[in-house]
Amino acid sequence: MIRIKQALFLIFGITSFIIFYIGFLNFLTTQDNEMGLIILIFSGIVSSGTFFATFYIANHLTKPIESLAKRMKEFSENNFISKNSLDDKGISELTALHKNFEDMAQKVGNTLEKEKQLNLKLKEMDKRKTEFMSMISHELKTPIMPIMGYIQLLKKQELMGNLNEKQLDALNEISIASEKLQKLIQDVLMAQKIDLGKLSINKEIVDSKDLLEKTFKAFNPICESKNIDLKMSLGQTSSVYSDSDRISQIFSNLISNAMSFVPKQKGIIELGTKDDNEHITFFVRDNGVGIAKEQQKNIFKKFYQVDTSSTRKKEGSGLGLTICEGIVKTLGGKIWLKSSENKGTTFFFNLPKAKIQVDKIHP
Ligand SMILES: Nc1ncnc2c1ncn2[C@@H]1O[C@H](COP(=O)(O)OP(=O)(O)O)[C@@H](O)[C@H]1O
Ligand SMILES: [Mg+2]
Repeated sequence: MIRIKQALFLIFGITSFIIFYIGFLNFLTTQDNEMGLIILIFSGIVSSGTFFATFYIANHLTKPIESLAKRMKEFSENNFISKNSLDDKGISELTALHKNFEDMAQKVGNTLEKEKQLNLKLKEMDKRKTEFMSMISHELKTPIMPIMGYIQLLKKQELMGNLNEKQLDALNEISIASEKLQKLIQDVLMAQKIDLGKLSINKEIVDSKDLLEKTFKAFNPICESKNIDLKMSLGQTSSVYSDSDRISQIFSNLISNAMSFVPKQKGIIELGTKDDNEHITFFVRDNGVGIAKEQQKNIFKKFYQVDTSSTRKKEGSGLGLTICEGIVKTLGGKIWLKSSENKGTTFFFNLPKAKIQVDKIHP
């Protein structure tokens, strides 16, 4: 890269040399010695004038530009600029450029400072919110245990005495509601653990084929009971160095969602794996209602639900996919989806292959 100063000296240095050389050549070759001398003196004056003018221009042009570049660099690194050391006598456009940059830097600096303060406040609020939620969910977890325990006891009529049909119906309602409450509390606690980076992970070599077959076996009965056709598509299978319980948790969330959105008749859910060089990808595909494009970008956000109307048919907390994303990220992978409305949705998640991890352990 060439600098302005060097370019100017190169161009005008050569020009002044040529002018002087022509004058000198003319002096050597001319018959008219007096005229030759005048031209030589003239070319000498012009070439040295050009040289000094170049020196002057180069200094006045490059100094402010170099100073501006330095201050820009300083600002990008520290969000701060030192005082302008240039006087006002230079090139007016460049002085104006400095002034405008200073004004702009001042404004950007102020905005960044405000944003920093706001971020600190938000972080503090977020921390308090997490602490509050943690406290609430722990407090809820404690009483739910005896409630669930006594429901089970009441159901064992030989121990607690016989219940009539109406009482049994009521007990069933209480039982269903308590299970939902328990699930909600578990989800909130789980989401918090992920937020705080406290999710426990037990990694081992997991065979993707075994894992998929186990998941299929676990969910096939409930799918059959709902007339949903559960399929399995085994691509190239492989091993992942990961936590099988956590992966099952992801599958459980994704399959439960799919079960809620497939049609009542001819519902199809397909579980599968695909393979690339570094990752193994799992997917859960359904032929359900699909998710609109504008909803897709929000789908992994905490408490986000597509249908928020009070007449909403599907129940849920909007935490399922947040938890899936949190687990996948903790396991070193990523999760994404493809969906088209009224056709269906496929959720994919990938995990690093075991080989990479094993290589790290036994280099
Ligand atoms: N397979 C799917 N098909 C259509 N919509 C889905 C599917 N999975 C998730 N969704 C939408 O994404 C939203 C968020 O899902 P999730 O985080 O699991 O929360 P929840 O199931 O508790 O509502 C759901 O409310 C639902 O509208
Ligand atoms: Mg869900």
